[in-house]
Amino acid sequence: MPGQNEPETGFSSRLLERLSNAYSVVALTGAGVSAASGVPTFRGKDGLWNKFDPRELASVEAFMKNPELVWEWYNWRRQLIQKVKPNLAHYALVDLERIVPEFHLITQNVDNLHRLAGSKNVIELHGNILRNRCLACNKPFQGEIPEKGALPRCPHCGGLIRPDVVWFGEVLPVEALEKAQEVAAEAEIFLAIGTSATVEPAASLPYLAKGNGALLVEINPEETPLSSVADEVIREAADQALPRLIMALDRLRAKGM
Ligand code: APR
Repeated sequence: MPGQNEPETGFSSRLLERLSNAYSVVALTGAGVSAASGVPTFRGKDGLWNKFDPRELASVEAFMKNPELVWEWYNWRRQLIQKVKPNLAHYALVDLERIVPEFHLITQNVDNLHRLAGSKNVIELHGNILRNRCLACNKPFQGEIPEKGALPRCPHCGGLIRPDVVWFGEVLPVEALEKAQEVAAEAEIFLAIGTSATVEPAASLPYLAKGNGALLVEINPEETPLSSVADEVIREAADQALPRLIMALDRLRAKGM
């Protein structure tokens, strides 16, 4: 049952009290956290998957069929991402990492904005668009990706170079997923922020946390499948709600509560 919001903070006293005393807090972020930076989300009205077909651009089959097209799309997204900056939601999560003794940030985003904002403990479930690796031997590739012309080959095995992101139908990086499941299971508070909570296995993490006794909080201007099971629903943009949440926590801590 959602807590009663306090008028001056817009949050429930339960949430503030639990957050200011929590030892372990986990945040799972999705594309909504980067929306305010100008990075398009995937679903919803201007979502990328409304304009592009993920099967044509974000799968191994698509890459094998037409690597040039897939690289063209990732170069477009990479150029866009290299122009944007972290927003207040990213910086508020850096603050939360400073406030909470044991804080873990699990992100589905590949835009590197959490790291750019200064978050240290980032678990990148879906990889990072600024990194490349070999399709065949998986070794990281540090070279340049040409805008046009022949695609780079792995210096170790000659395989095709691909973006280091997880494509549809692919397994997630095992270490990252195991770490995410481990910290979610131990979280006292689990914040699902800016995610449609529809893509597995990330979408199972909030349920894993709640099943282990965590207070489940959703921050999203829209309803998602998580909304009905969340203990607290903050129906706002992350770049609005998170800075206000940090201020409320800092005020509580200043009062020694
Ligand atoms: N603040 C918070 N949430 C927001 C904001 C905002 N300013 N703007 C939009 N949202 C919410 C939307 O309401 C939506 O629920 O962010 C969510 C974005 O959902 P998706 O576009 O589905 O993004 P995400 O949940 O991250 O997708 C998961 O799907 O395509 C794959 O690998 C891709 O990592 C991605 C995964």
